[in-house]
Amino acid sequence: MADHQADATVYHWWVSDGEHASIKVIQQYIEARGMHWQDRAIAGSGTARFGDVLKAAVEAGEPPMASQVIGYDIHYWASRGELVNLDDIAREQEWDEVVPYGIQTLSKYEGHWYAAPINTHSTNWLWLNGDLFRRLGGVAPDTWEDLLSMLEEARKLDIVPLAIGHEAWEHTLLFEAVAAGAGGAEFYRRAFLELDPTALDENLLLAIFQRMSQLREYLDEDFSRITWNQATRLILSGEALLQVQGSWVDGEFSYYGYIPGQDYACFRFPDTQGMFLFNSDQYMLFEQGPGDEEARREFVSTLMDVDLQRDVNVSSGAAPARVDVPGDAFNPCGRQAISDMRSTNMRRTLMGSIAMGNANPPEVKNAIYQVVSDHLYGRIDDEEAVHRLREALMNHSAGR
Ligand code: GAL
Repeated sequence: MADHQADATVYHWWVSDGEHASIKVIQQYIEARGMHWQDRAIAGSGTARFGDVLKAAVEAGEPPMASQVIGYDIHYWASRGELVNLDDIAREQEWDEVVPYGIQTLSKYEGHWYAAPINTHSTNWLWLNGDLFRRLGGVAPDTWEDLLSMLEEARKLDIVPLAIGHEAWEHTLLFEAVAAGAGGAEFYRRAFLELDPTALDENLLLAIFQRMSQLREYLDEDFSRITWNQATRLILSGEALLQVQGSWVDGEFSYYGYIPGQDYACFRFPDTQGMFLFNSDQYMLFEQGPGDEEARREFVSTLMDVDLQRDVNVSSGAAPARVDVPGDAFNPCGRQAISDMRSTNMRRTLMGSIAMGNANPPEVKNAIYQVVSDHLYGRIDDEEAVHRLREALMNHSAGR
């Protein structure tokens, strides 16, 4: 325990109801170690706006002690030489042994640990309203065709079949599930993680955008006005059948006291059952931020503590970032997430989410956002989307 009231200043973007409950769990653990918690919440799940605020603080010479960060944004900050190297504590706590390999490639930069992962969210999920699911037969949609016929039946009930919010990262999250389902794990890895131009088969890309066009027919006309968690509330209220979103949706359901298997159901997106498209929330510490070495060690080791990773993720809906956290305290969706995380880690099908910046660098992610969102809003047709996506991915692979 730190024997002084060190200030732990923390930036994060956990602002929805469920997220707010989860950040409180972290706060309690940090305070129990004798540190003084001071946080700043800045909405911005797609990370662009959040990143701007953080950059401004760093440039003004006032970085926080620690900040939430995801995916390749870690490499951006590490490459600027502004982050605290966490190798010592990683060695002591054996992070190499317990953190899934796919996550380590993001936490580490040039072989050194610069971020501490607190969870393993995954994006390829369907979240369904329990009553509506039962009214529609109560059978999990296993394949793409099953999903389409379920959406069609939902439309007949005069509800929104598929709820989604307005931001490009949400559209890309839907896209990545469709792409992984249509193309399979090897395609997903080669096309989006390795940026291998030979993986970009035009017919397959066309089929993916055609599927996205099919889904567009089932969206709420008002989707351009709502956020992801407002879409979740449409599921809760029974105004919509389902949502394709990350496991943070489970954190919202839990916060409101809803019970999986009864009030709602969670299933892997059809044809992606053996895959885990991950988004790991991590914390990086700034060299120029407040806090001495002891406070930093205390802060980071607390984040990697097995008990904290259990409690924060029972609340957040994610699997922990450690493979050794017992699953008993989790609800059935959380237990499935943990077992999927462990098994896909062994098979190399635990792959970064494009939407959440865990698959490729920010400039590639942003180019994909543009194409996918323009297409979902109907501003460009399927062929144009294929053309623009190939261009975006090929330009970036050429620049590597
Ligand atoms: C992500 C974050 C998740 C979840 C989501 C929705 O960027 O990593 O933990 O909070 O945004 O806000």
